[in-house]
Amino acid sequence: MTGPAGWGEPLYERVLAGVPEGSTVLDVGCGPGVFAAFALGRGLQVTGLDADRSALAVAEKTALGARFVLGDAHQLDGEYDLVALVQVLAHVTNPLQVLKEAARVGGLVRATAWGREEESDLRLFGEALAPFLPPRPERRRPAGPPPLTDPERFRQLADLAGLEVVALDEVTSPFDYEDDDALIGPLLQSDLGRYAANRAGPTAVRAAVLETFAPRRHGEGYRLQNLFRVLDARPAA
Ligand SMILES: C[S@@+](CC[C@H](N)C(=O)[O-])C[C@H]1O[C@@H](n2cnc3c(N)ncnc32)[C@H](O)[C@@H]1O
Repeated sequence: MTGPAGWGEPLYERVLAGVPEGSTVLDVGCGPGVFAAFALGRGLQVTGLDADRSALAVAEKTALGARFVLGDAHQLDGEYDLVALVQVLAHVTNPLQVLKEAARVGGLVRATAWGREEESDLRLFGEALAPFLPPRPERRRPAGPPPLTDPERFRQLADLAGLEVVALDEVTSPFDYEDDDALIGPLLQSDLGRYAANRAGPTAVRAAVLETFAPRRHGEGYRLQNLFRVLDARPAA
């Protein structure tokens, strides 16, 4: 599920903190170009790279004045003052290789990732739907390394990639929904939401979601607080 408009701004602020106007930025996995547009607004020279042509077509309209290229985050070209990886590392095949490439072409590397499930209100959507879904199979520890939501793992990957970690900061980003429909609409269109509504009926699902989110009421709508981590690093000398 994507967040409501504007949710990324606290993250973008941290990713660009202290980066002087006129600096060059490679926005790896730029998607539809929302961060690229934000960086342009800060007077930066932005190149966006993504493996998805359709995302690039949207980005070209979202961030007029940035340069966009089709490419693979595992193999970067050029030289940039900053390589930004905004919500990308969890989506690539080999995050270590991507960080190594970022360290090779960037003077600074800043990368963001979700916090742990229990650190974000977004988990409440799952909790609200759980009574309508089949029981989850008993959780076994997954094989392989822990995910990037674990800050120790994030730091370790940066070390392995040859980066010197300047900071691994926590950024809380409010997700604001203006009313009940804005909160529930996207949920009911998701696969799990449709499954639950087919099983129990949309009225029951709606009531359960509103009850779960009642403590997050904010004015006429709702405010969820979600935690992200921002890695701030530079190539080790
Ligand atoms: C969750 S989206 C994040 C988009 C954007 N950075 C943002 O914050 O809105 C992840 C993006 O990474 C891109 N991506 C995934 N694997 C990639 C790869 N190997 N090379 C380049 N882009 C990749 C996807 O196409 C997608 O646009």
